[in-house]
Amino acid sequence: MKSGIDRSKIDELLRLFSTAIATTKLYSLEHEQVQKQIYRIQQCLNTLFKQQGELTFMIVKKELLFEGTPLEQTLHCERIARSLHHRNIGYFSITKGVDNSEIELFIDVACGNQSADQLETSAPHIDYGEIDIKDDPDAILAIARFEDLSREELASIKTLYDKIADKENFDLHRISSIISGFVTAFQQECNPLLALVPLKIEDEYSFAHSINVAILNIAQATSLGFGTDLLHDVGLAGMLHDAGKIFVDKEIIRGTHQLSDAEWQEIKKHPTRGAQYLMGQDGVPQIAILTAFEHHMRYDMTGYPTPPSTWQLNLCSQMTMISDTFDALRTRRAYNEPWDLPRISGRMLEVAGSQLNPCLTMNFLKLLKGCGDKIMTDGLELSAEAPHLSEEELNKRCVCE
Ligand SMILES: [Fe+2]
Ligand SMILES: [Fe+2]
Repeated sequence: MKSGIDRSKIDELLRLFSTAIATTKLYSLEHEQVQKQIYRIQQCLNTLFKQQGELTFMIVKKELLFEGTPLEQTLHCERIARSLHHRNIGYFSITKGVDNSEIELFIDVACGNQSADQLETSAPHIDYGEIDIKDDPDAILAIARFEDLSREELASIKTLYDKIADKENFDLHRISSIISGFVTAFQQECNPLLALVPLKIEDEYSFAHSINVAILNIAQATSLGFGTDLLHDVGLAGMLHDAGKIFVDKEIIRGTHQLSDAEWQEIKKHPTRGAQYLMGQDGVPQIAILTAFEHHMRYDMTGYPTPPSTWQLNLCSQMTMISDTFDALRTRRAYNEPWDLPRISGRMLEVAGSQLNPCLTMNFLKLLKGCGDKIMTDGLELSAEAPHLSEEELNKRCVCE
C-alpha cells in the first residue's frame, strides 16, 4: 500500500462499487438506487484523488489487490473480483478527472451488460487490462482427458466458433482457454491423437477440421519440445488457419460437388482474406496471422498465394500444412472417401520434400505410428478401402479441405 492513502476510504469505495454492481444486476443503471451509489462513488473518489491521482486494482486468482497488496476478502471485494474476472479484466486503474458516465460504464461492464472494449473508447480515465490466459490456470477449460469432452462442451466450443463463422468479433479469450485446455490435456495424455475421435460432428466439417488441426499442431509441437506459450500459439494458429473461408460461399465450402475453375479461384483467396480478417481482431498472435496466410504455400513454394522468390515459410505454417493434409485425407466428405492410415502415410511420404517439409513429415508419421493399433482400428474410424483418385483431384484435396 502506498503511503498517505486512506485505507478506510478505499474500503468505502469498494463497498460502493460492489453495491452498485449488485443493484444494477437487480434493476438497471438508471435506477435511483444505482444513481445514488454512483454519486457517492464520485464523492469518495474526489476525496481519494486529493491524496493520490491514480488508483490501481488487480484481480489475481479472483482476489482483489490494491497497488499490489491483497485486500481483506470481504463480500464486496469478492463480488468485484468475481464480476471483473468473468469479463476477463485483470486490472483496472481510475485516474483523476473520471466522470459519472465513465463510472456508469465501468459498472455496466462489470455487470456484463457491455463489453470491456467500450471502456477504451468511452472512458479515458479508466484503464484496464485483460487477464493473460496463459498465466491464468483458472481460466483454462478443464479437460482432464480428451475422451471426457462431452457433447455439451463441444457445443459450447462450437458456439464460439460460429461467432467466427458469422464474422462477428470473436471471443479470443475463450478460444484461447480452449486451446490452453488442449495443451494441458496433452501434458497428461499419452495418446493425444485420440482427441480426434469425439470431435467428429456430422455436417460440421469446418468446425471439426479447425479443432483437429489445432490438436494435430499441438501434438507436433509437443513432440518437437516447444514450450507452453508457443504450444498455445501454434494450437491457436491451427484453430484459426482457415478463418478466411468465412468469406467464401458456403456451398463451395460444403464441398458437395467437384469444384469448377471459378469456384477454385474463389477458394484460393481464403488465405489472404483470413490473414486480413485476423489482423483486424484484437490480440491474435502474429504467428496465427502468418499461418492463415501461408498454410497453402507448399514447401517447394508452389501452392497459393504465390510469394516473392525470397519468401521463407514459418515453421508453424509448415506444421499446419501437415495437420491440414492429414485431416483432409482421413475425413469422409461428400465426394471424397476417407483413407486408411497406411495410405495416408504413403501419400504424405510421396509429397514430403515437395509439398510438405520432409523433416516435419517424418516426425508427424512417427507420432502416428506411436499411436498404435487403437488409432488404426477404432480411433480414426478409417475405411479399409480407399478409392483411386487422379493426381489433380489429389492435389486439390491435399491442400484445401
Ligand atoms: Fe485452408
Ligand atoms: Fe484447412
